Amino acid sequence: MTRTDRTDPSNRTDPTEPAEPSRSEQRDQQDPRDQPDQRQTLPYKSFDPRTFRDKPVSFVRRSGRMTPSQERAWEDLGPRYLHELPRGHAATSVADHASLEPAEVFGRVAPLVVEVGSGQGHAIVHAASELRDWDFIAVEVFRAGLARTMIRAEWADLANLRLVEANAPEVLERALPEHSVDEIWVFFPDPWAKERHKKRRLVSPDFARIAARALKPGGLLRLATDWEDYAEHMRETMDAAPGFARDFAGEWAPRFEGRVLTAFEQKGIDKGRVIRDLAYRSA
Ligand SMILES: C[S@@+](CC[C@H](N)C(=O)[O-])C[C@H]1O[C@@H](n2cnc3c(N)ncnc32)[C@H](O)[C@@H]1O
Repeated sequence: MTRTDRTDPSNRTDPTEPAEPSRSEQRDQQDPRDQPDQRQTLPYKSFDPRTFRDKPVSFVRRSGRMTPSQERAWEDLGPRYLHELPRGHAATSVADHASLEPAEVFGRVAPLVVEVGSGQGHAIVHAASELRDWDFIAVEVFRAGLARTMIRAEWADLANLRLVEANAPEVLERALPEHSVDEIWVFFPDPWAKERHKKRRLVSPDFARIAARALKPGGLLRLATDWEDYAEHMRETMDAAPGFARDFAGEWAPRFEGRVLTAFEQKGIDKGRVIRDLAYRSA
């Protein structure tokens, strides 16, 4: 008997992560980038209406069952790389009183990059290995991706990288000090291509406001996508965002040299899509 029993609470998704699209909405995601192991169900927890956020989130979170080596990495390397933040009511939320002081976390004052949605950590581990006198924070909700990032970080013997398992806008808005970040990177965010899903897109006027608060004056927001419609949306949003100016001439920014080719970018290229980069400087 392999059919799922929908009346069994253990087969339900986690109600602490609200606004999950219906199955048909998920099928409609034309670019199903979510890794298969993101699509496991979480154990049922008792219903708490306070876990519903007041704005849509840019991810669908499932348990993301980990392989034994990822479980081991989570246990063994977590103490070195994971920075735990106090939660609000939802599983990936950040409490109002949370604090992430970069100088305390890294034990030094150095330029700081925050990557939003770091996936499996290809870009940030590469950058942190190349720039050891900079500090890096990877923010991701996908636990198996964070475990893989830790494995890579250990291989590269990185002391200048920390990982945060949380909804990135909340980390930028609540935990990081105002004007503390030199660069925010958002590479290949989920495109949420269907019209009715667009409200879930990470790059929005609200995200621009949050990024402006977190960035130092003169700091950079770097964006990349292989989804033309999202690229145009990003450019329109950021052109209109108070406190930001284009850091490129012409229609699009040149490819950011510090960005390694990830599986997502390769997939876009294989499908014949054009990769768009954008960079905006905070006033
Ligand atoms: C399409 S993947 C791209 C991953 C990576 N940037 C790359 O290029 O390989 C987008 C990632 O963003 C993460 N994500 C989406 N919204 C997020 C949020 N609000 N906070 C943290 N991570 C988020 C997803 O879990 C997913 O791993």
